[in-house]
Amino acid sequence: MRRPLVVGNWKMHGRVAEAEALVRAIATAEVDWGRVEAAVCPPFPLIERVARGLRGSAIAWGAQDLHWEDSGAFTGDVAGPMLQDLGCTYVIIGHSERRHGHGEDNATVAHKFFAAKRNGLIPILCLGETQTERDAGRTEEVVGSQLNAISAEGYEAPFREAVIAYEPVWAIGTGRTATPEQAQQVHTWVREQIRHTDPGVADAVRLLYGGSMKEDSASELMAQPDIDGGLIGGASLKADQFIGILRAASRRD
Ligand code: PGA
Repeated sequence: MRRPLVVGNWKMHGRVAEAEALVRAIATAEVDWGRVEAAVCPPFPLIERVARGLRGSAIAWGAQDLHWEDSGAFTGDVAGPMLQDLGCTYVIIGHSERRHGHGEDNATVAHKFFAAKRNGLIPILCLGETQTERDAGRTEEVVGSQLNAISAEGYEAPFREAVIAYEPVWAIGTGRTATPEQAQQVHTWVREQIRHTDPGVADAVRLLYGGSMKEDSASELMAQPDIDGGLIGGASLKADQFIGILRAASRRD
């Protein structure tokens, strides 16, 4: 019922030549595209080139962030309509590297989430607790407040046409993947929260796991009933790893 989705988050990596080679490799990979959806989110300056390489393939593309306004005096920022012009399908919102590295609070993340929707982009909302928060037993409180910030804006069915990525901060880029049970536990909990506020959407919304997912761990994670794919950082920069994860997702029951 929920087709798996695998998204590559390239972060601040890649020059034009590398990006083109990577795109060529994944666009021509033998994957059962009827059983998995894929997207890559390169840095802004590479989006156009990546789009050129992916047009006509099964793979979509997106951005890693956007501003909450559609235009204005915001030096260095990029707006939703610009991403729309580039043919982006997705935009990552509230990644922990934005929340923790650039001081984005829940309110800012919520404004960006709705800016994406207003511009016809599918937001990939990232949620996740730090190690200290997990150790203190605060995972649900933290993830819940990140989720509620979206619901609290008062829009009807905010998670329709949206994707959520649970990315425990302690697992991002560390090589420490959450166990399938740990991830599933949070995913189920998130789906239940959405069921309270948005019952019509809860069963349809895709919940991705992110945090050191690799080819080796992908099958086991995605075998969990509420893990509908992955948001992949490091492993999305290596064609064979990313393709391996796509194949694992395509074999999901
Ligand atoms: P990682 O990054 O796969 O390198 O841990 C995931 C992410 O930050 O989206």
